[in-house]
Amino acid sequence: MSLKERIRKELEVLSAEKRFRVLPDTGVRQGAFIGSRGKKLLNLSSNDYLGIGDDTWLRNQYLLAFDPESESGGFSMTSSSSRLLTGNHRLYNEIEDYLASWYNREAALVFNSGYHANIGILPALSARHDLILCDRLNHASIIDGCRIADAEFKRFRHRDYEHLETLLEKGYGNYRQMFIVTESVFSMDGDRADLEKLCDLRERYGVFLIVDEAHGAGVCGESGKGLCEESRLSGSIDIIVGTFGKAFASAGAYGIMDGIVRDYLVNTMRSLIFTTALPPVILGWNMLVLEHQRAMSAKRFHLHSLAERFREALREKGLRTTGESQIVPVITGGNNKTVHVAEVLREAGFLALPVRPPTVPENTARIRFSLRADIVWEDIAVIPDILCQAAGGGET
Ligand SMILES: Cc1ncc(COP(=O)(O)O)c(C=O)c1O
Repeated sequence: MSLKERIRKELEVLSAEKRFRVLPDTGVRQGAFIGSRGKKLLNLSSNDYLGIGDDTWLRNQYLLAFDPESESGGFSMTSSSSRLLTGNHRLYNEIEDYLASWYNREAALVFNSGYHANIGILPALSARHDLILCDRLNHASIIDGCRIADAEFKRFRHRDYEHLETLLEKGYGNYRQMFIVTESVFSMDGDRADLEKLCDLRERYGVFLIVDEAHGAGVCGESGKGLCEESRLSGSIDIIVGTFGKAFASAGAYGIMDGIVRDYLVNTMRSLIFTTALPPVILGWNMLVLEHQRAMSAKRFHLHSLAERFREALREKGLRTTGESQIVPVITGGNNKTVHVAEVLREAGFLALPVRPPTVPENTARIRFSLRADIVWEDIAVIPDILCQAAGGGET
């Protein structure tokens, strides 16, 4: 069978299983709303958790700082080369100094994206004779990093720290270094890692702990540093990864770490070295959004209250949901039913996309609601009723 025949067959299977993906035609975005197939929908599928992506005041602050007459045409549109060549704009240093002092740690390092961070850090730090232990439900970018690394890689059951400890006990003394990698707020289930337990295991087994705060940064903690701040453990995690593309409404990512680890990554991390640096226009916006985090605690509080109320209302209707964060999944089970429910929501004015295997485990297809701070309860109050009716219809 030729390659084209093979992939055609695979695509046919995906279609039959309602798993064929197309890049959606995204319409105009206006705050919490988005145009989609000719309709204006409340966007509950974005990671703009603080609802600041279209914030006019913040945008104006950015434009005030944007001086086209200044050196290199203000915030230039391109960095034109890797950070190790000529792409290391002074804004990188400003952001990294700011982040290190905000987290009260020695150093920070900015990356092009969370994906770049996660596929680069573990392959740089680990080697043969090391062991990486990875939560089973970690994001694909973390899994890819584990796969690229030369170290042995095992998954522990999701948030099952007894299982993790069994693996640590077995590994202790048999590997040069053991690593644990986890998300803080899990992207598909909206539940949270127990950072206290993980830091305890780190201490007892001499493990190097990496925590991905992609969905925690900007959302958790009094000043928005993430679950590590809320758990008062920012100083006990070897690398905290945060992303700028979600609650910080921009693009890029960062790691918080010791100075020596930073030096090592600058010398060895391939996804940092062999890629064009972020453009200064983005770096300027990242800096501005970071500087305003402290003033956004009311948004965080509102977001958490909204999520709690939404979960409670879903449970009252007997709907299956998990987690304890702004990410609220409603598990519908089969792919067909999930697609049907998403369509019914769309008809009612809500964009809440279905998430299906392989992104989530088999038979746990779901509607993933990403709540946001720029909406109020009345905007979403009808959803549990709609779900209740829709989930009864359609095939599974
Ligand atoms: C947990 C987690 N880490 C990393 C990433 C990748 O981040 P980025 O979108 O900046 O590449 C994502 C993106 O969805 C994520 O959910």
